[in-house]
Amino acid sequence: MTFERSFRSIVILTGAGISAESGLGTFRDRDGLWTKYDLSEVATPEGFARNPVLVHDFYNARRRNLLEAQPNAAHAALAALERQWGGDFLLVTQNVDDLHERAGSQRLLHMHGELLKIRCEHCGHVTAWPGDLDLATACPACGNAGSLRPHVVWFGEMPLYMEEIYDALQSCDLFVSIGTSGQVYPAAGFVAEVRRAGRAHTVELNLDPSDGHSLFAERLYGPATEIVPEFVARLFASA
Ligand code: OAD
Repeated sequence: MTFERSFRSIVILTGAGISAESGLGTFRDRDGLWTKYDLSEVATPEGFARNPVLVHDFYNARRRNLLEAQPNAAHAALAALERQWGGDFLLVTQNVDDLHERAGSQRLLHMHGELLKIRCEHCGHVTAWPGDLDLATACPACGNAGSLRPHVVWFGEMPLYMEEIYDALQSCDLFVSIGTSGQVYPAAGFVAEVRRAGRAHTVELNLDPSDGHSLFAERLYGPATEIVPEFVARLFASA
């Protein structure tokens, strides 16, 4: 099956589901991270202020896990789409993993930050950080100790790159949401934003219907490693 129209400007939103088959847990599925950890303890500024050791342990474990994971066929299909697509392309991810980059994606915005980076709350400097972090580590830029935190967006904090993302949502003609439950805003509201602009085809690719599934014009359900490469092949066939 091909599309009845061709597209010039694509925005793709990804969530934890695209990395699930790489061995990284999702948040809200059975066995998801938020069934094992209290998000108010490990993913809020207040939790970090109360117990920074617990928060560092949580992100250290996730960092180690990530270094063992590999991009899967869904990440690879999106990288190939970007490489071979003639028009505008933007990949917005809620994921803090680096599997899109490792698969070759370049026009990529990490709206919830990046697990393999840390930030100094004293001077604001962001540093690449693949290893463990603890309270004794000093900032490589200003030398301050105890002021480093994971460069991830916590609940109650503002996601990154929002202006650029909303501009792209308003001007795209294809919006594809992949592997996200649609429970966390602002990302959960992107499809409504795209619909308000009134010109884009909207597609959901997920294992199960998301909370906002009825807002999408087209919906395909299955594992990301199967449905994302199939969808990308269909796009190329219509181009
Ligand atoms: P969720 O855990 O909320 O949702 C994951 C989605 O992926 C679900 O809808 C699953 O059905 C789907 N899924 C699971 N396995 C899949 C597979 N193999 N193929 C395709 N889909 C699959 O994760 P997100 O929606 O990404 O934010 O969560 C959004 C945000 O909430 C995260 O970025 C994180 C979290 O709290 C922060 O930490 C700020």
